Amino acid sequence: MSKLVFEPPTITRLTPGVPSKHGVGAVISPMPSIDGVKVDDLIEKYGSPLFVFSERSIRKGMEDIKRAFSLRYLNVQMAWSYKTNYLDAICRVFHQEGSWAEVVSGFEYDKAIRNGVKGENIIFNGPGKSAEDLEKAARNGSFIHIDHLDELFVLADICQSKDIEARVAIRVNMDIGIYPKWDRFGFNFENGEAWDAINRIMINPRLKLIGLHTHIGTYIMSTDAYRIAATKLADLASNIALKYDYFVSYLDMGGGFATKNTLKGAYLSGEDTMPSFEEYAEAITSAILNSQIKPDKLPTLILETGRALIDNAGYIAGTVLANKRLSDGHRATIVDVGINLLFTGLWYNHKICPVTNHSGLIEETTIYGPLCMNIDLIRPSMMFPSMKRGDRFVITRTGAYNTTQWLQFITTRPNVVLIDQDRKVHLIRKAETIDYISENEIIPGHLA
Ligand SMILES: Cc1ncc(COP(=O)(O)O)c(C=O)c1O
Repeated sequence: MSKLVFEPPTITRLTPGVPSKHGVGAVISPMPSIDGVKVDDLIEKYGSPLFVFSERSIRKGMEDIKRAFSLRYLNVQMAWSYKTNYLDAICRVFHQEGSWAEVVSGFEYDKAIRNGVKGENIIFNGPGKSAEDLEKAARNGSFIHIDHLDELFVLADICQSKDIEARVAIRVNMDIGIYPKWDRFGFNFENGEAWDAINRIMINPRLKLIGLHTHIGTYIMSTDAYRIAATKLADLASNIALKYDYFVSYLDMGGGFATKNTLKGAYLSGEDTMPSFEEYAEAITSAILNSQIKPDKLPTLILETGRALIDNAGYIAGTVLANKRLSDGHRATIVDVGINLLFTGLWYNHKICPVTNHSGLIEETTIYGPLCMNIDLIRPSMMFPSMKRGDRFVITRTGAYNTTQWLQFITTRPNVVLIDQDRKVHLIRKAETIDYISENEIIPGHLA
């Protein structure tokens, strides 16, 4: 039996689970496994760092949101926001759960088609659609959410010259009581731009106005903002009915629900402050039900919820590379997960859990990634146990945006696995190799 390593005894003040004037005390619990699969086994087989997704957790999130909304409203349709996570295996779980696809580029559009989504079940958002993208989407019967007048005219021109029709909606931006206002996407409600766009579409025989869309922002913790947004979209729908005796088929409320992650600088933990799906559902559905829209003409409610459905299902397992003391004596721990893999580390205080219990001194620590760049900072300061080189940890709630916004920078990107509901582990994206990175590079003849 090897000799036990000496650990100096420490006395730690116990903090009850209520906030003090410094916020909520840190509770560091170990995370030895994810969905019953040992993190050590995962890292031994697939390497470190490693992105891990829980299929069970994705399906549970979908079940929860569908229940919250369908108990309060008749027709609800989810549309998976590709930009939030477009790993094909992840998208397919959402599609199996009944989600359409919500895309914002030709690339995402093609990904959705390759994932088996029918053109008529694709919502095409975004300010940068090319003429080719627009024509393809129109021919496929997708819902094209027009962002600005130039796009409206390009689409009208395509439809006229190619003798085709397009199913469209407009994106509407509005004052929802959150400042600064998000008014760069879509047509403004208050200044009459949205109504103007609607009238232009209504008189064009080739553009069929099917719905109205808004996406009021992201990590929106105010359910009241959704109530205001839904009221304004419903107002537009009622005015269309009044003027044209025409009823739009859907109101699309976009995404933006908060997750349980804690924003940097937040006083309270996201776990305590995030509204529930029920609270968001209550605000949105009551606004639509209480509008002037007649009960038999109620439109389908579309939700493009992204981060609130996938954040919780994603983890990054990693390994400690080193410990050091900064010049002022502050402890620093260097880990193998860089900010290039954890883009959301820029605005969240991600929870980091050791894989095994550490009884050593919990001390204020800065967590750095492995990149030789000053920006590579995972947590500027957190109460953390003393972990040694080779010790493993799990960063939680990393499912949204990290595998779409990650950068191949200094190192290659690692393996991604999905744990299915029977605890079987599937490799869903292979670690990049130097050949993968070099594949698209071309060396001019004189440098060969
Ligand atoms: C149009 C649109 N819909 C949905 C989403 C998903 O938002 P979230 O991940 O905040 O739910 C986004 C994200 O930016 C978006 O731009």
